[in-house]
Amino acid sequence: MKFSSSIPSALTVVGALIGGTLAAQYEQYILAPSSRTLHPVSVYKVNGTVSNAQSLTGNKLGSAIFQDASAVTYDYGKNIAGVVSLTIGENLDVNQYVGITFSESSLWISGLGSDATADSGIDETLWFQPSAPGVYTVSREHERGGFKYLSLIHNTTGKLEVTQVTTHFTPMPHYTEYQLRNYTGYFHCNDDLINRIWYAGAYTNQMCTIEPTHGNALVHLFVVNSTTPGNMTAPLTWYNNYTVTNGSSCLVDGAKRDRLAWAGDMSIAVPGIVVSTNDLISVRNSLDSLFLHQNKTTGQLPYAGVPFPSIYSATYHLYTLIGVADYYQYSNDLKYLSGIWDQWKFGMNFSLSFIDNSGMMNVTSAADWLRFGMGGHNIEANSILYYTVNQGINLASVVNDTSVISAWTACASRIKSAANSLLWNETAGLFHDNETTTLMPQDGNSWAVVSNITANSSQNTAISANLANRWTPFGAPAVEADNAVSPFISGFELQAHLLAGNASAALALMRLEWGFMLNDPRMTNSTFIEGYQDDGVLHYAPYTNDPRISHAHGWATGPTSTLTFYIAGIQLLSAGGQTWKMAPALGDLTSVDAGFATSLGMFAAQTNVTASGGMRMSFEAPVGTMGAVSVPYPSCSGKMLLHEVNGASGDLEVDVVAEKGTPTGNIEIDGLEGGQWELDFSCS
Ligand SMILES: *[C@@H]1O[C@H](CO)[C@@H](O)[C@H](O)[C@H]1NC(C)=O
Ligand SMILES: *[C@@H]1O[C@H](CO)[C@@H](O)[C@H](O)[C@H]1NC(C)=O
Ligand SMILES: *[C@@H]1O[C@H](CO)[C@@H](O)[C@H](O)[C@H]1NC(C)=O
Ligand SMILES: *[C@@H]1O[C@H](CO)[C@@H](O)[C@H](O)[C@H]1NC(C)=O
Ligand SMILES: *[C@@H]1O[C@H](CO)[C@@H](O)[C@H](O)[C@H]1NC(C)=O
Ligand SMILES: *[C@@H]1O[C@H](CO)[C@@H](O)[C@H](O)[C@H]1NC(C)=O
Ligand SMILES: *[C@@H]1O[C@H](CO)[C@@H](O)[C@H](O)[C@H]1NC(C)=O
Ligand SMILES: *[C@@H]1O[C@H](CO)[C@@H](O)[C@H](O)[C@H]1NC(C)=O
Ligand SMILES: *[C@@H]1O[C@H](CO)[C@@H](O)[C@H](O)[C@H]1NC(C)=O
Ligand SMILES: *[C@@H]1O[C@H](CO)[C@@H](O)[C@H](O)[C@H]1NC(C)=O
Ligand SMILES: *[C@@H]1O[C@H](CO)[C@@H](O)[C@H](O)[C@H]1NC(C)=O
Ligand SMILES: *[C@@H]1O[C@H](CO)[C@@H](O)[C@H](O)[C@H]1NC(C)=O
Repeated sequence: MKFSSSIPSALTVVGALIGGTLAAQYEQYILAPSSRTLHPVSVYKVNGTVSNAQSLTGNKLGSAIFQDASAVTYDYGKNIAGVVSLTIGENLDVNQYVGITFSESSLWISGLGSDATADSGIDETLWFQPSAPGVYTVSREHERGGFKYLSLIHNTTGKLEVTQVTTHFTPMPHYTEYQLRNYTGYFHCNDDLINRIWYAGAYTNQMCTIEPTHGNALVHLFVVNSTTPGNMTAPLTWYNNYTVTNGSSCLVDGAKRDRLAWAGDMSIAVPGIVVSTNDLISVRNSLDSLFLHQNKTTGQLPYAGVPFPSIYSATYHLYTLIGVADYYQYSNDLKYLSGIWDQWKFGMNFSLSFIDNSGMMNVTSAADWLRFGMGGHNIEANSILYYTVNQGINLASVVNDTSVISAWTACASRIKSAANSLLWNETAGLFHDNETTTLMPQDGNSWAVVSNITANSSQNTAISANLANRWTPFGAPAVEADNAVSPFISGFELQAHLLAGNASAALALMRLEWGFMLNDPRMTNSTFIEGYQDDGVLHYAPYTNDPRISHAHGWATGPTSTLTFYIAGIQLLSAGGQTWKMAPALGDLTSVDAGFATSLGMFAAQTNVTASGGMRMSFEAPVGTMGAVSVPYPSCSGKMLLHEVNGASGDLEVDVVAEKGTPTGNIEIDGLEGGQWELDFSCS
C-alpha cells in the first residue's frame, strides 16, 4: 500500500510532543569516561607481599608498599587506553625496580610481559628504577592502546611505596573531556542486553580513534611471525609512535593493534560512529591516508594504511571506494566527493579490469579479512564489487558524470546474472564460494543479501534461514575461516537477516554472539573482540598467537548501526538524510527509542507495540527534508492515524483492514515533510 503526498488539511492535533530527546537521557549506558585521568577500580590479584594495594583504587592518594618480589594486578573495570604514571612514595629502598604490564583479557595477565602485538611472543614490561619519590610516567611511544588490567611488578629485594597509579586516557584526542560522553546519538529498547551492546559498540569505536602520531610502529612485522617460537623470557619491544595519517585524530582497526587504517574494518565501524558520535573527521583522515597511496599508474589502493606495505586486496580496495560512498552519504559533503571523484573512478576501473568473460571478477589476491581460499570467481568479492559499482552509479549521478553510467549498469547486471547462474545452489539455498567448491561461506552469502546480488527475495529468506542454522552456542561460524567466529562478517550477517525481513534472527544473533563477547569473564565486558573460535575458546584461526587478538576492534561493532538503521528503522536514503525513511522492525522487542544527528539535524524514532497488535510511533526529521514511514501490516483491523505535531500537514487517517490471510509486507506512506510526526494504530 502506498499513499501520495496529498495530505488532508489539519484536523485536531492530539498526542504528546516528542523532541527534546537527547542522547543524555540514556547516559548511564555510555562507557566513555568523563575525565581523561583514570584510576584503577579494583584489585584483581596480589602476588607476594603488597600491603594496602586497595588504597590505590579510586581517585585518591594511597600507600601500597611492595616488599621484596611481589606484584599487584589492578582492574580498570573496562577496557581503557593511555599513558600510565606511578607516584612513588617516601618509603623507598635503594636500587628498586618496578615494572608495568598490560592485558586486555584476564587470560594474559603476567609478571613477564604484556599481552601481545606481534605474531608471536608477548610484549615487554616497561621498567622504572625510581631513585627518589615522585611521578614516573612512561614515554609517549609506550602509551598502551587497550588494557583492562594493569600489573605493577616489583622484582627486587627491599621496599617500594606507590601512592598513586593513573592513566591518561588518549582515545578521541580531538575531543574535550566533556565531549567524550556527549554523544550525538542514542538507543534504548526493552531488552537491556541489546542496549548494552549498542553502547559497547559505540565505545569500541571511540577506543579505535587515536592520535595519528601514535599508530603501531610494527617493528616486528615480517620479522616475527607465526613460525617464530614465542620466548617468554625475551618479550618483544613495542612502540606506538608511527604517524599513520594526517590530521589530529584518525580511525584505526583496533585499539591495541594494529592501530592502522583498514578500509574493510571501516565499513562496519563508520556507520556505528555516525549513529553514536558522528565523528566524521577521524573517518575522513583515515580515508585520505589510503587515497594518498593510490597507485598513480594502475589506480590500485592499498590493503591498509602505512606502515603496512602496499599489497593488492580485491576486497579492501573496494572497501576503500565504499568508504567514500559512505562518507558522502553520512556527511553530505559534495565538495569532498567531487574532489575525489577522478581517483574514485580510477579505482573502480581498476577493479572492473579483473572481470573476465564469465562476467565476474577473478580474484587474484589472497588478501582479505584473513579468511582462507580467497580466489577465482569468489562470491564475497563479486558481491562487494556489485555493491560498489551500484554505489558508483549513484555517485556518478550526484556529480553529474553521465559518461560511466551505462557501462557500469551493464557491468553490474552481468556480475549479477553470472553469480546467480554459476554460484547459486538452489538445493542448499546458499551461494558457493566459487565454482570449484561446494563450500558455502558466511561472508559471501551475507554480502550477497547486503549487496542485492540475489535475484529475488526468496533467496534472501533462504540465506537468512540457512546461516542461522549454523550457529553454535557462541555465535555464527565462518566456514571459510576454519569456523572462526568473525564479529566482522557477523556484522554483515546481521544486515542480511534484517534485509531478509528477519529482525528476530538479527536480535537473536546479537544476544548470542555479542552477548557472549560482552559478558564472558575473559573479555573486557566493554569492547568487542576481533575474533574467536566457535566453541568459545579465545583463539582466532588466522593467528597462532592468542595474546595478540585485539579486544577492541571497530569491525566488531555491527549491532550499533544495524539497531539504529534497521530495528529502530531510521534510514538515510540520500546524503545527510535529505530523504529518509522510518521503517521500524522490532522483531521480538516491544519498544525502541533511537536517534542520531547528521549535519542536517536530528533524526529520531520511538516505536511501541502492544501484544494485541497496536502500535504507536513518534518520529522526527529535520525541517527541509522529505521522507516516508513504513510499518509492518498490523495483525488486526483498525484505524491508523498519522499526524504532524504542530505542523501544517494535519492528520491523515488510514483504514487498515486485515483481510482473510493477514496481508504481509509494509504499509508505506510517502511524501512526508521533515518535522515531528506521530503514528497511532489501535485494533478495532
Ligand atoms: C602472579 O603469580 C602467578 C603464579 O605464579 C603468575 O602466573 C603471574 O604471572 C603473577 N602475576 C604477576 C602480575 O606477576
Ligand atoms: C628487575 O628487572 C630489571 C629490569 O628488567 C632488571 O634490570 C633487574 O636485574 C631485575 N632485578 C632482579 C633482582 O631480577
Ligand atoms: C554536546 O553535544 C551537542 C550536540 O549533540 C552540542 O550541541 C553541544 O554543544 C555539546 N556540548 C558540549 C559542551 O560540547
Ligand atoms: C618468519 O620469521 C622468520 C624469522 O623468525 C623469517 O626468517 C621468515 O622469513 C618469516 N616468514 C615470513 C613469511 O615472513
Ligand atoms: C629466549 O631468550 C633468551 C634471552 O634472549 C635466550 O637466552 C634464550 O636462548 C631464548 N630461548 C629460546 C628458546 O629461543
Ligand atoms: C619509536 O620509538 C623508538 C624508541 O624510542 C625509536 O627507536 C623509533 O625510532 C621510533 N620510531 C618512530 C617511527 O618514531
Ligand atoms: C604501481 O603499480 C605498478 C604496476 O603494478 C608497479 O610497477 C608500481 O611499482 C606501483 N607503484 C607503486 C608506487 O607502488
Ligand atoms: C575456491 O573456494 C575454496 C573454498 O573456499 C578454496 O579452497 C579454493 O582455493 C577457492 N579457489 C580459488 C581459485 O581460490
Ligand atoms: C584467475 O586468474 C589467475 C591468474 O591470472 C588464473 O591462473 C586463473 O585461472 C583465473 N581463474 C579463473 C577462474 O579464471
Ligand atoms: C548536477 O546538476 C544539477 C542539475 O543541473 C545541479 O543542480 C548540480 O549542482 C550539479 N552537481 C554538481 C556536483 O555539479
Ligand atoms: C548443492 O548443495 C547440495 C546440498 O548441500 C549438495 O548436495 C549439492 O552437491 C550441491 N550442488 C552442486 C551442483 O554442487
Ligand atoms: C535489487 O535488485 C532488483 C533487481 O534484481 C531490483 O529490482 C531491486 O530494486 C533491487 N533492490 C534494491 C533495494 O536496490
